[in-house]
Amino acid sequence: MLEPERIVRLEHDAVVLLDQRRLPGEEVDVVCSTAAEVAVAIKEMVVRGAPAIGIAAAYGYVLAVTHGEDPQTADDVLRRSRPTAVNLAWALDQVHAEPTYEAARQLHHDEVERCRAMSAHAAALFETGTRALTHCNAGGLATGGYGSAVGALIAARERGRLDHVWVDETRPLLQGARLTAWELETVGIPHAVIADSAAASLMAAGEVDCVVTGADRIAANGDTANKIGTYSLAVLAHFHGIPLYIVAPSSTVDLATPDGAAIPIEERDPSEISARFPARNPAFDVTPAELITAIVTEAGVHRAPLSDALTQPAGAA
Ligand code: MRU
Repeated sequence: MLEPERIVRLEHDAVVLLDQRRLPGEEVDVVCSTAAEVAVAIKEMVVRGAPAIGIAAAYGYVLAVTHGEDPQTADDVLRRSRPTAVNLAWALDQVHAEPTYEAARQLHHDEVERCRAMSAHAAALFETGTRALTHCNAGGLATGGYGSAVGALIAARERGRLDHVWVDETRPLLQGARLTAWELETVGIPHAVIADSAAASLMAAGEVDCVVTGADRIAANGDTANKIGTYSLAVLAHFHGIPLYIVAPSSTVDLATPDGAAIPIEERDPSEISARFPARNPAFDVTPAELITAIVTEAGVHRAPLSDALTQPAGAA
């Protein structure tokens, strides 16, 4: 498993990012010396995944302010880099009060600790012999260390409850086939990459016991935005009576956003879909709260009605 500082770190005069576009084939660092360079790295997905984007932005802001850049300009360019993951704005708001290297590194450390806590809560939801299906990458690469949904898979495996993972390849940028498969291989968890469109027939064949994903923004009523394709999985899981678990830190819960309709959905360059023909490329979709079995944060397991559960102390598994 990659150390947090190997994924994203703040050095004296730079933010250093492991280029996730080139994984797993090559481990190459991208060195950013200004807020604008960090913002470009976020937009172009050198670093991606809601918590990791937040951490990189916090590092970029502190670096910029410490090296004399205008704080408002630095905040603006970072905040505009990607619209859906609320962790970006959350992390910037966190370091505004104390724009120091220590505070930004502490924010990173705390996100990783939140991952460990929520993964332990989520693992308790797994029955022995579970065959889980996951979508996109919600591992250490996406959270700056350990992982959320992938962290839950690791914790469940350590507790002898996880037998196998189906890994959606996750078109168009293949975060599942490239990053999740690599992370599971690194920790020795049995898995198989599947076409996103194969999930339905595997569910129908009774080969999937639960679906577990991360999240980019959880609205106050529990509606949850995550990688495009998550909503399809939620509908399929509901039809087949399979539980859907969303594992995400409280930094991804956005009580200021009332419901899914209010979540900004990023539309990325159509050429990521087709370099030749006209295309549409929404990067995220919204799963309505009623299709979610439980949302697991570091505080515990939140079950329906999520609109209450997200603002009250969480229950156990
Ligand atoms: O476009 P990406 O790769 O940033 O999308 C990432 C996801 O949708 C993840 O599932 C989400 O950010 C959770 S990461 C813990």
